[in-house]
Amino acid sequence: MAQWWQKAVIYQIYPKSFQDSNGDGIGDIPGIISRLDYLAGLGIDAIWLSPVYQSPGVDNGYDIADYEAIDPQYGTMADMDELIMQARKRGIRIIMDLVVNHTSDQHEWFKQARSSRDNPYRDYYVWRDGRDGNPPNDMQSTFSGSAWTYDKASGQYYLHLFAAQQPDLNWENPELRQAVYKMMNFWIAKGIGGFRMDVIDLIGKIPDAQIRENGPHLHDYLKEMRAATIGDQDLMTVGETWGATPAIAQQYSDPARHELSMVFQFEAMQLDQQAGKEKWDLMPLDHATLKAVLVKWQTELDYTAGWNSQFWNNHDLPRIVSRWGDDGQYRVKSAQMFAILLHLLRGTPYIYQGEEIGMTNHHVKSIDEVSDIESRNMYRERLAAGYSESAILHSINVKGRDNARTPMQWTDTRNAGFSTGQPWLAVNPNYKQINVTNTLREADSVYRTYRQLIKLRHEEPIITSGSFTNITNVPRTVMAYYRQANQQRWLVVANMTAETPTIDLPDTAKQLVIGNEPDSDLNLQKRVLRPYEAFVVEV
Ligand code: GLC
Ligand code: CA
Repeated sequence: MAQWWQKAVIYQIYPKSFQDSNGDGIGDIPGIISRLDYLAGLGIDAIWLSPVYQSPGVDNGYDIADYEAIDPQYGTMADMDELIMQARKRGIRIIMDLVVNHTSDQHEWFKQARSSRDNPYRDYYVWRDGRDGNPPNDMQSTFSGSAWTYDKASGQYYLHLFAAQQPDLNWENPELRQAVYKMMNFWIAKGIGGFRMDVIDLIGKIPDAQIRENGPHLHDYLKEMRAATIGDQDLMTVGETWGATPAIAQQYSDPARHELSMVFQFEAMQLDQQAGKEKWDLMPLDHATLKAVLVKWQTELDYTAGWNSQFWNNHDLPRIVSRWGDDGQYRVKSAQMFAILLHLLRGTPYIYQGEEIGMTNHHVKSIDEVSDIESRNMYRERLAAGYSESAILHSINVKGRDNARTPMQWTDTRNAGFSTGQPWLAVNPNYKQINVTNTLREADSVYRTYRQLIKLRHEEPIITSGSFTNITNVPRTVMAYYRQANQQRWLVVANMTAETPTIDLPDTAKQLVIGNEPDSDLNLQKRVLRPYEAFVVEV
């Protein structure tokens, strides 16, 4: 029997950019509540809520100062309780973002820790002596520069794999681990649906050996966490695991090991970056490689004893239509194609806010328009290293995280209906055309494809549990595969470019399940595909 989270479609909300309710330009929890009917109409089963906890907002909430308080800009704990309750009424569960690789430097634990070397909280964090006035070693922060910052008052360096305002927690300390579990139980008692675990593969780091991901005790910690919190309760957990291979993913998600429900891994998402370089070092996507990576994760992970997430977007990634589709002429077609291709794969699909209406990247002309700490730090670092400003801005426009963080486009009225005030980040000017109101009126829209895919997933067990077989004799820019369960067999075909290649398959189509060309020709022999065409047929 499939678990609910295997049959589910999860919708990610980035609260700051979803819906503002009080005109301060910042999305908030009452705003989310006001949009629950929209989400119920789309048909989603759960919301992954990016952090709404008390935070100074250096990394938009991924720097938490109090795990058991709601940041006033997002509302109150009463609003949060109301959100959980209102969502549940509509059959939607709330998945909380659990950010426990690090806290904010404003967390009480860190304030205590830095106050003196013998403070009981000192060991909740990672402190080391310097090496002749230099950091303890060469570990680098994901947000540029050394991963070590010197604390003058106590005369030691502390570790931060992200910003200096995000000190890393020391998971080797059992008291810290118990404090985290206690906090998780506080949220479980509120009736949430589970946790999305931020950069969870970093918690087993061994700084002295410069080991970041997949440290030796990582899985022990996850087992201990599971036993102390969720146990056998029917909640889902998804781990953000940049460093997972299919074999490692199996360890995380094998139900017999009692760790996580599923992984959220990024192998496909790194294919347009030069090997061994940073995400900013761009390279064109090779569709054959994309296919190979998707197939690898369909076939090398055993889905009867493990599980994976499927996504093209989140708050850290550029918009898929702009990235690998076409955000001009074929915006709708390419967005629909990516949706069909992804939602028919094995694993739980995630939709990032705005993806369901085909929102696009937003280009900036100057660094002044950029809010994201990652992009801003990289800009400074690369400018100092001699890169041209235009090259840096090009990387930001292609890969920067603000692309996904522009406000949700609800209407064609002022500020896209996101806020009556000044939005914290500029609205993409294409909101007059691309918005929820328009989409709901259109006969053929990205939204309709997503809604149809979600409904299909709920009704057709073949999507959750059917086997996967890749089809190799298709052109390199076409992905085609079979899903099969009992006597039922589906063929999925996705043309990933604007070219019009020909497929020639031995099957006879019985009926169209879903497609992005309404008059789709069911013939599969010497069949010319239209630009970004995708369809599923029963064969
Ligand atoms: C994860 C989050 C990202 C955040 C980082 C540090 O990758 O998705 O937004 O900046 O962790 O918490
Ligand atoms: Ca607000």
